[in-house]
Amino acid sequence: MMRKRPLKVALLGCGVVGSEVARIMTTHADDLAARIGAPVELAGVAVRRPSKVREGIDPALVTTDATALVKRGDIDVVVEVIGGIEPARTLITTAFEHGASVVSANKALLAQDGEALHALAEDKDRDLYYEAAVAGAIPLIRPLRESLAGDKVNRVLGIVNGTTNFILDKMDSTGAGYQEALDEATALGYAEADPTADVEGFDAAAKAAILAGIAFHTRVRLDDVYREGMTEVTAADFASAKRMGCTIKLLAICERAADGGSVTARVHPAMIPLSHPLASVRGAYNAVFVESDAAGQLMFYGPGAGGAPTASAVLGDLVAVCRNKLSGATGPGDSAYTQLPVSPMGEVVTRYHISLDVADKPGVLAQVATVFAEHGVSIDTVRQQGRQDGGGEASLVVVTHRASDASLGGTVEALRNLDTVRGVASIMRVEGE
Ligand code: HSE
Repeated sequence: MMRKRPLKVALLGCGVVGSEVARIMTTHADDLAARIGAPVELAGVAVRRPSKVREGIDPALVTTDATALVKRGDIDVVVEVIGGIEPARTLITTAFEHGASVVSANKALLAQDGEALHALAEDKDRDLYYEAAVAGAIPLIRPLRESLAGDKVNRVLGIVNGTTNFILDKMDSTGAGYQEALDEATALGYAEADPTADVEGFDAAAKAAILAGIAFHTRVRLDDVYREGMTEVTAADFASAKRMGCTIKLLAICERAADGGSVTARVHPAMIPLSHPLASVRGAYNAVFVESDAAGQLMFYGPGAGGAPTASAVLGDLVAVCRNKLSGATGPGDSAYTQLPVSPMGEVVTRYHISLDVADKPGVLAQVATVFAEHGVSIDTVRQQGRQDGGGEASLVVVTHRASDASLGGTVEALRNLDTVRGVASIMRVEGE
């Protein structure tokens, strides 16, 4: 017979995710109690619009005063699913000050202020868990923080934004342009009315900062993450990728340098071979590929957004935090002990696919090749195709061997200064080989 007092949970936000958290807490109450060792009770739900009918939630629990709720003093766990920096940050801080542990789904806040929030949680001897902040339902934070705690992670390569994966997948499978694919994503509810956070890579960059910090046991801030969106990817880029046996994905890439002395974190569109497991991640799904010394290659795959999938991750954290509370312990917290510096993008080494519009006349290929050589960038393949429009121009596609981003940048700048190069149509990194 379970005699323990119920653990009290305050829910901040009752939208797509919050309402699912409340629903599962009610429908799975007995299982959750059995797994935790004590019942969990929804003690209050802070919302913006109290008049909205919320099925399955006792109206007496609903309040617009989130601050008073987190200050009550009898709350064991605050679940924050509001998102954004404020008021979430102040509410979480207040929750710790008043004795609660926190479960959050807030990637932007954790990427920006994770260090301070972890420090406060540790100071107050409370938990801060946020599995739902990265890739929705997919277990990633816990595997990196706990299951791989005895291994050495060298690389995390992932599709961590479903909206952009849906758009790129549509472009790949139908030959559509970016705008057409975005319009479809919007019509189907995958893209928000303002898609900037997704298509410009801000959402993925926040997730990359969190993943890199945990994977490499160091501090990676949002500002440390190099970011390029995917709005300039064209149908021509996909055609080129196909000719190389590749597709294009918006990737979050976190790497430990070969000498182990630094790390990098970046988000940008990239070509990956069709044979790479990430190439077959379709629609709005997410997947993260982890490479470590002992485990080798691991892949985590699943729904990266949505009410119920994200609530699944929140509930998993809630169970863990409640168990910790009952045993009088806290779970693993911040682990940024390696203090590895984050190198700038210029030091990243990868391969490149460069598409140039050039004059179609003798010596141009040699001129272009010389520029690559002068910057220490070795060419792997070159493909030239004359245009049929009689304008005396050709398309030149150069794929390089591995080179630093700074060397490639210098090469492209010099190419732009050549009279015979009419334009640089696209530059895309090639990953996953
Ligand atoms: N907007 C995100 C995506 C989900 O499309 O994956 C929340 O991070």
